[in-house]
Amino acid sequence: MAERRLGLIMHGVTGRMGYNQHLVRSVLAIREQGGIVLANGDRLLLDPILVGRDREKIQRLADRHGIARWTTDLDAALASPDDQLFFDAGTTQMRAELLSRAIDAGKHVYCEKPVSDDLDSAVALAKKAKSAGIRHGVVQDKLFLPGLLKIRMLKDAGFFGRILSVRGEFGYWVFEGDWGQPAQRPSWNYRKADGGGIILDMLCHWRYVLDNLFGEVKAVSCLGATHIPSRVDEHGRTYTADADDAAYATFELEGGIVAHINSSWDVRVRRDDLVTFQVDGTHGSAVAGLHKCFTQHRVNTPKPVWNPDQPQTIEFFDNWEEVPGNVPADNGFKAQWEMFLRHVADDAPWPYGLEQGAKGVQLAMLGLQSWKERRWLDVPALGI
Ligand SMILES: NC(=O)c1ccc[n+]([C@@H]2O[C@H](COP(=O)([O-])OP(=O)(O)OC[C@H]3O[C@@H](n4cnc5c(N)ncnc54)[C@H](O)[C@@H]3O)[C@@H](O)[C@H]2O)c1
Repeated sequence: MAERRLGLIMHGVTGRMGYNQHLVRSVLAIREQGGIVLANGDRLLLDPILVGRDREKIQRLADRHGIARWTTDLDAALASPDDQLFFDAGTTQMRAELLSRAIDAGKHVYCEKPVSDDLDSAVALAKKAKSAGIRHGVVQDKLFLPGLLKIRMLKDAGFFGRILSVRGEFGYWVFEGDWGQPAQRPSWNYRKADGGGIILDMLCHWRYVLDNLFGEVKAVSCLGATHIPSRVDEHGRTYTADADDAAYATFELEGGIVAHINSSWDVRVRRDDLVTFQVDGTHGSAVAGLHKCFTQHRVNTPKPVWNPDQPQTIEFFDNWEEVPGNVPADNGFKAQWEMFLRHVADDAPWPYGLEQGAKGVQLAMLGLQSWKERRWLDVPALGI
């Protein structure tokens, strides 16, 4: 069978997500496994070119991983017919313009979320991609988490009966950067002017998780907070953290399902995982973390009785059963890359285009507006 080469321009790979999840865990992992086998038996081989501002950094990265091609000249990379796909994991604020240039150059595009920090440009970008007829996609990694794949299976199997509510807890303590303990996230996340804020960061995730697993989001009420107003950056300088670092959001979904998700970088973890989703249905409930998922069927549900005079006698964690990991799950970012590459090379189905990215930005913008105006807001169709 024949070998097919796909040249891809990778931008933003010196960053946290671009390097770990996209370059190393996805593109290089796909390369190491010998590419992907297409429907007709052909093998698709990836040939990345790394693009960045800092010549030394980008060259060092390319050398470290045996990547032959790198450049600081994005225009030249976009102009070259050798590369068919443009990928971006750079800053959110640059993304819409970069993707727009790549689409103008006739490239397929794939990118991190959020696709933009404003709704108009996100919608314009999705429309542009559609009319250009190129292949386009946005990362929706949480859907590929083993824990959420198990929730999907439970739902498809009818385990829940009628789903009533979804409770999400996302977050962990992000160090302020003082006392010699560096923060574990980039400082731009905590500055409004640099595209920071947890509402923009996380509500676009919650949009595709809720839409795809439970029901379309119909309305949102969101309270944001900037709990920690001052942090220390990568260079040891104290800065004003003016972006929201916690969001307490409630969503109405189609079918009358109520979802409430807390997202916070100022919370200490005493739960199963850094993100957990509890789904309660008439027939059963489940709690999923990143990997594991536990269920409790209606017939296994203990009967608590409220009595503050007596210490609790029920061990609530003992009445849940773990869903076995019968299907081995690959890295979620890699699984989504492979799906997108099959869409590009093989015309395989792909539901995660830029219009989905725009829906994520829409929910984030409505979340911010709801907080500002202190009210519920409906989520209208975008008509892309
Ligand atoms: N899917 C997820 O779960 C997830 C998680 C974290 C971040 N993200 C998204 O990934 C993107 C990057 O986030 P990160 O945490 O990796 O950030 P980061 O700060 O670690 O990386 C940013 C990248 O952009 C580049 N960059 C910054 N300013 C630039 C400029 N002026 N010109 C050219 N390049 C520039 C940096 O060199 C770096 O490669 C963001 O859009 C973020 O929302 C997604």
